[in-house]
Amino acid sequence: MKQFISANDISSVNEWVEKAISIKKNPFEFNHLGKNKTLGLVFLNPSLRTRLSSQKAAQHLGMNVMVMNLNQDGWALELEDGAVMNGNTQEHIKEAAGVLSQYCDIIGLRTFASLNDKEKDYNEVVLKKFIQSASVPVISLESAAGHPLQAFADCITIAEHKKIKMPKVVLSWSPHVRALPQAVANSFVEWVSQTDAELIVTNPKGFNLDPSILKNTPVIHNQKEAFENADFVYAKNWSSFENYGQIRTQHQDWIINGEKMKLTNKAKFMHCLPVRRNVVVSDEVLDSSNSLVLAQAQNRIYSAQTVLYHILNQK
Ligand code: CP
Repeated sequence: MKQFISANDISSVNEWVEKAISIKKNPFEFNHLGKNKTLGLVFLNPSLRTRLSSQKAAQHLGMNVMVMNLNQDGWALELEDGAVMNGNTQEHIKEAAGVLSQYCDIIGLRTFASLNDKEKDYNEVVLKKFIQSASVPVISLESAAGHPLQAFADCITIAEHKKIKMPKVVLSWSPHVRALPQAVANSFVEWVSQTDAELIVTNPKGFNLDPSILKNTPVIHNQKEAFENADFVYAKNWSSFENYGQIRTQHQDWIINGEKMKLTNKAKFMHCLPVRRNVVVSDEVLDSSNSLVLAQAQNRIYSAQTVLYHILNQK
């Protein structure tokens, strides 16, 4: 596997979830695989979970880890081919990826959506240019339009907590004060739709996700109707795909609260974190015994470890 940037890079979501659950039971079983290997983690925006869970995953496999906040500590990156670099950029992504490939056996890269250029974001220009110039496997630690390690961890969490074979899983848009990318929601739809689940998306009009990602996933604009008999409610804000990157309206009434959760089948509550309390979801729901947010964060270790395991095991 030369890259892990979406579910298309793996053989089967269900098989990988099973493997992750098995790795979680005995996390040090393969700690010989990473001996004398180095994982480089490169961040172009902030992170708590991705950074530390990936480090821990690599440590379980016996790898060394190097971390760099490239946006703060590195040179300003140039992306354009043929650029005359007489402006603010100081290092071309070609050299940056080439140099990092000499120091690392696997590289994780986190980029972020511009939210003003849909084509550039959805073509994953930064991630793809980096991969083109890297000579080692590259893992997405979240990109402009996807967050596969999060979605993989979410599938593990649902598999661990579901009580029926085909649970009803509702991805609900929720309010936020800032414009956020569609990355988490896109990957959640992509991954969960490949598992045994009845997936429904609910969002206000004007906030439908990319139709090429939604495919046949039903979208309901009435949040309360969508919540009826749900087994899992996954809250996430995203800015408009149609009016790209715009908030347009706050829709504060889309907050997830105890009253709405009562409509569900005692649903488990999920969110990728970080979460703005009492904007996205009420304290009551987040602090309830049905909240899986910490379990999801824990499973970030095992989604990352499973990806690293597969890359190391093939070398
Ligand atoms: N969920 C997630 O990716 O968290 P971080 O941004 O803190 O890594």
